[in-house]
Amino acid sequence: MRITKGILLAGGSGSRLHPITLAASKQLLPVYDKPMVYYPLSALMLAGIRNILVISTPEDLPQFRRLLGSGERLGVTFAYAEQPRPDGIAQAFRIGAEWLASEPTALALGDNLIHADHLSELLRAAASRAEGATVFAYQVRDPERYGVVSFDPAGRALEIIEKPSAPRSNWAVTGLYFYDHKVSDRAERLAPSARGELEITDLNRIYLEEGTLHVERLSRGCAWLDAGTPDSLLQAATFVQTIQSRQGMLVGCPEEVAFRMGYIDARHLRTEARKFGKTELGRVLNELADVAGT
Ligand code: DAU
Repeated sequence: MRITKGILLAGGSGSRLHPITLAASKQLLPVYDKPMVYYPLSALMLAGIRNILVISTPEDLPQFRRLLGSGERLGVTFAYAEQPRPDGIAQAFRIGAEWLASEPTALALGDNLIHADHLSELLRAAASRAEGATVFAYQVRDPERYGVVSFDPAGRALEIIEKPSAPRSNWAVTGLYFYDHKVSDRAERLAPSARGELEITDLNRIYLEEGTLHVERLSRGCAWLDAGTPDSLLQAATFVQTIQSRQGMLVGCPEEVAFRMGYIDARHLRTEARKFGKTELGRVLNELADVAGT
């Protein structure tokens, strides 16, 4: 069964960005010219997902509603749910259980940005896998900060560990996941870890042990950034600025993705572009609508 639903998880306290996040949601902070959440949202939409549950804190959720609304303007549907406390990433499946109705789903962390050649093909392949789970791994210098996956000599995933003190590889698991219909049940049965969280890595390990965890290794030409610290936030912004100004192409723009995926037409895109006033973003979107000949 093709994955048509996706969860965008944008809660947490953003403590590594205090004091900025004492009064503002981390995932709504700007990454260059767009709110952070636009980047993972674009990835979900590129995967062909049009039914999206946005989860955030009770304090911040109204701001997400204000930004994203019903989704109609992007040709998608947004639902919203609160996560009262940051009790773990895998809690998203419990919070969204009723909405999911035991269907397969993707999950995107609201602070992750992936930019790659052929990304939409990779994502669509993951979304069309009927069985098991798909995660993406990326080589990093500091794997101990992430979920880490190691491989046997044949390249098969061997083990997956959350923030290991002595990582067996430098392949970090990114914050974009695809799961079959078993995910709700499995999340329901997870126990909190030693740090008191429902760990996404524990959920992935269940799939790994069952032999149905597909690990897609992103090549060195790809970029994966999480924007959870002052340094990574600045790096992400600089990255987006560099690509956009050099190539004249947008990174992580849901309006563009909606148009390219056929969720909205050129006339609709022009209406959206108008809302961005005289910004560069508005200009590029207008140009896109022009090229389409309306
Ligand atoms: O970025 C990828 C990494 O994300 C993975 O490699 C790790 O396996 C995974 O555990 C996670 O690690 P982090 O240390 O980045 O997790 P963090 O607690 O910072 O949460 C990631 C995002 O999810 C963050 O934007 C806040 C949000 N979140 C987190 C938790 C625990 C929630 O919305 N609710 C939560 O309960």
